[in-house]
Amino acid sequence: MVRDGHVLGWAQDASQPRCRLVVEIYAGGVLLGTARADRFRPDLAAAGIGDGKAAYTFALPSPTPDRAALAARVAGTHYWLVDEGAAGKSGDHGPIETISPDWSHAIADATAFRREQQALAHTWTFLGLARHVQKDGDWLRASLATREVFVQRFGNELRGFENIRPHRSYPLPHERGDCRAPIEVATCGALVFGRFPSEHTKESLQDFLAEGFPILEALSRMPEKPQTVVEKIKANWKLYVHITLDDYHAPYIHAATARSSGGHFNPREITYRQFGAHSCFLMTSDTRAFDRMVAGCRNGSYGASHYSIFQIFPNLVVSLSCSDGDNWHCCLQQFIPQAHDRSLLRAFVYPSPLSAYRSRHARVTRLLTDPIRNRLAALMFRRISREDRDACERLQEVHRIHPAPRLGGLERRIAWFEKTYRDAMNVPNPISGNQRSSSAGDI
Ligand SMILES: [Fe+2]
Repeated sequence: MVRDGHVLGWAQDASQPRCRLVVEIYAGGVLLGTARADRFRPDLAAAGIGDGKAAYTFALPSPTPDRAALAARVAGTHYWLVDEGAAGKSGDHGPIETISPDWSHAIADATAFRREQQALAHTWTFLGLARHVQKDGDWLRASLATREVFVQRFGNELRGFENIRPHRSYPLPHERGDCRAPIEVATCGALVFGRFPSEHTKESLQDFLAEGFPILEALSRMPEKPQTVVEKIKANWKLYVHITLDDYHAPYIHAATARSSGGHFNPREITYRQFGAHSCFLMTSDTRAFDRMVAGCRNGSYGASHYSIFQIFPNLVVSLSCSDGDNWHCCLQQFIPQAHDRSLLRAFVYPSPLSAYRSRHARVTRLLTDPIRNRLAALMFRRISREDRDACERLQEVHRIHPAPRLGGLERRIAWFEKTYRDAMNVPNPISGNQRSSSAGDI
């Protein structure tokens, strides 16, 4: 439990009751410190927990991390402790939700990962930018559910196909002129999506993106060539998606970056919204902000006014952020699965096409300052993405396999994502309720 800025709990190895354990305390996947579970508690002694000397206390740093972000485990083990004091409580942002106990199978197991990717092959997936296939004959290469695909322009039409090469030196399909293993291709604004055909998936891209379609259409209009960032990640793609979906990690993982950029986070100024298979986070307490954004993007009147981030299932994240009053940037993040423990992040950073320029002076100086500003925005993004990457790589090593993590209110979008993920896997929805994670104790 958490009380007066302290994590309180107990831990004991029943097979070695005299052996005192060390407990690690985490916030948002980051290790805060350790505590020795050797303090006497009369209720433990009365309950027959060894000699009763199994309690620990850990003083949290200031500002106190969100309770939902805290986790504790027995050092050097996979035993995660249960916060019994928090079970069933809602906090300010809704109830704690439980996701499927097998949520991490494809993270830990190569065979489960291959099964997952086979199922996701039929989901509309972001492949690349239409600016790369503007002229007749232009083509782009992409990864669709770990399979290599090509998209090529033939006049007004984009066609896609899987690249099946018997050996390395065999010509690529666009070089041979044939189109083997066609894939379905569709665009939303400047974004190209694809999927492998299936008799069960007939939904158009527009229907799939739902209210997100006009938003992506508007946000993807790039005023200039984007800055591109590519990062190799030694972690599963879903861990990186999760970290874009929780809203507590930023003050801890990005504390230094946020301070240097003047960023701030106020949990009371948050609006969540689910649309189709997707979700968004808007940094505003205005619950009608999303509807206003959809309508404004449709009729071209929307101007950027608050930080927004859209998670497009399965692996595209689009954000709109501001570095100062007049300068907004968009960032497209594509998480490309490569193996159960390896992914690639590709990101495009560019000035927001949604005008927020308030003064004539700003409009004029923007022409001169944007090239520098865009490079700085890409540098800042690279720094933030590396902080997220490091956290994901640690999570890949310590991810909780048994059971599912209980999610706090600030992780609601992870629960939505996991439900959509299970639907895509075509398996029954997860059961709800709290589950114990270890035999050791509580936090
Ligand atoms: Fe982050």
